Amino acid sequence: MSCLRLGVLVSGRGSNLQAIIDAGQKGEIPAEVVVVISDQPDAFALTRARANNIPAIYVNFQDFPNKEKYEEKVAAILQAHKVELVCLAGYMRILGASMLEAFPNRIMNIHPALLPAFPGLHAQARAWEHGVRFSGCTVHFVDEGVDTGPIILQAVVPVLVEDTAETLAARILEQEHKIYPAAIRLFAQNRLRIQRRKVYLK
Ligand code: GRF
Repeated sequence: MSCLRLGVLVSGRGSNLQAIIDAGQKGEIPAEVVVVISDQPDAFALTRARANNIPAIYVNFQDFPNKEKYEEKVAAILQAHKVELVCLAGYMRILGASMLEAFPNRIMNIHPALLPAFPGLHAQARAWEHGVRFSGCTVHFVDEGVDTGPIILQAVVPVLVEDTAETLAARILEQEHKIYPAAIRLFAQNRLRIQRRKVYLK
């Protein structure tokens, strides 16, 4: 099977990026990260990419007159690297029409809660404060909303009596590192079909 070319957008520490790089290098997924783009100059994710000889590019939002022009630049970099699937991994911006139109049904995101519960920021802490018995994580296709796109995979993580928001977040993160590569594998194997808001697995 040929190797799917991945572009990963990041803003921070990049542990999901690392999980995806590792899965590709170990041959666990038929996919390879070919470029990493950050909107933050000091994101540790950029360091991780460079340590793996992957082009790591900072694009400064402030250099562009508006979001559309900024996204056109990001999309142009991804296209120049012949990216086939875009993975958001801790990327702290809502995508606009330019990106969505450049990569229709070809953008995934990971979210640290069982969507549609707790979309948006600080999902793990909000789930813990709410007192849920189970939380988890979700890989979904990206649409114009905030964490609203068609769901590909989820992992459930029980909330323990002794949990703090931090320990819960750490156990959710372990699952993120499993289901993100798994969702990419399904995409690479052409086993995902989107019908309206549902994703069917072949
Ligand atoms: C993860 O919890 C992910 O679910 C969320 O942002 C965090 C990114 O962490 N979207 P990392 O940068 O991959 O370590």
